[in-house]
Amino acid sequence: MKYIIANWKANKTLSEVKTWLNVFSKKDLSFIKSELQIIICPPYPFLSLVKEKLQDCSYVKIGSQDISFFEKGAYTGEVSVENLSDLVDYALIGHSERRYYFEETARILFQKFNLALDNNIKPIFCIRSAADIIPERSIFVAYEPVYAIGTGRNESLDQILKVKKNLSFSKDVKFIYGGSVNENNSSYYLKNQEIDGLLVGGASLSPEKFYKIIKQAGD
Ligand code: PGA
Repeated sequence: MKYIIANWKANKTLSEVKTWLNVFSKKDLSFIKSELQIIICPPYPFLSLVKEKLQDCSYVKIGSQDISFFEKGAYTGEVSVENLSDLVDYALIGHSERRYYFEETARILFQKFNLALDNNIKPIFCIRSAADIIPERSIFVAYEPVYAIGTGRNESLDQILKVKKNLSFSKDVKFIYGGSVNENNSSYYLKNQEIDGLLVGGASLSPEKFYKIIKQAGD
């Protein structure tokens, strides 16, 4: 099974999301066999719309880009697991942008990770290097070296596999790579058995580019 995850970050207006969905939902996904899972992580305001529009496609699941470390309640402005529980199947936790701009520490991230898992949301735990601690119950670990994110400097397979060797997690954990993945380099990663999937930022903003990446994963 390969996982192709779109991370739109804080991009797109409502009308741009509608356009993306209109284009993407017309694409032929019939080539997909059961070994491919597409996960789309839009900004919070668009989660329901994306879910509704793509609900007929069983290969597509919805994820959030984060969750609050409060479970629910009087935390104005937060988006809690309770809010997300009927909406998403997955949540990104610990993206390097959260760690850097929002100063999210390992303690906060572990709290988010546990909340997600305990509420039936599968956490996709992001790490920047082998130095980041991985929670014990991890299902998905996404390795994203900071210098490769949004720079066009995607990491070589050799280097990724070297990092993977230094990680301590069970062999059942799905190992995802992210960092300047696009429609031209995705098959290079997907061909390798050690890479279970890709986390795609910039290239997922275009339905055409994202579809090309999915096509390569399905071929
Ligand atoms: P990028 O972002 O594909 O634009 O490098 C990946 C990510 O940050 O998840």
